[in-house]
Amino acid sequence: MQNELGTDDTMSKLCSALRCYSRPLGAEQLKAIVGDACIQLHDAGRYIQFDDTQYARNPVMSTSQVEVLVLCWRPGQISPIHDHAGSTCVVQVLTGTANEITYTRTAKGLLIPLETRSYPTRALIASNDTDTHQLGNINPADSDLVTLHCYSPPLVQMHRFPLSQTVLRPLLS
Ligand SMILES: [Fe+2]
Repeated sequence: MQNELGTDDTMSKLCSALRCYSRPLGAEQLKAIVGDACIQLHDAGRYIQFDDTQYARNPVMSTSQVEVLVLCWRPGQISPIHDHAGSTCVVQVLTGTANEITYTRTAKGLLIPLETRSYPTRALIASNDTDTHQLGNINPADSDLVTLHCYSPPLVQMHRFPLSQTVLRPLLS
């Protein structure tokens, strides 16, 4: 299945390169392809759509092996704690600073914060399927964030982990 909402030349080249694969891509392979594409903010123009109530996921293309989205984050918007449920994820920051909080598990299965990282414009981030984290924009009020996300295989059902649970169990999104 392929689904494309339209692209400019640079984004179209990235989508064409990814469409050639009939198997899931590994993190380093996906990172190299996205890095080589040199996508910049203006290349994502038509996919830059914000939602003032929550971070916005704007689909660019998808096949059975990979999907591409542009995510738009107003200041203060952050994802739920989640993993990638079997998908590899590569994120490129197109503008702004992305903030990531990583989590680890205690021997009892509880999630605890491990590290906070900040990624500037142009940074490339790779996450594996079992990495548990939050991504978002916790920057000053006038600092929007736009990120390009490539998942392989497509992220169908990421596991979300609400902090309100004492023993955290994944909820299918
Ligand atoms: Fe993620």
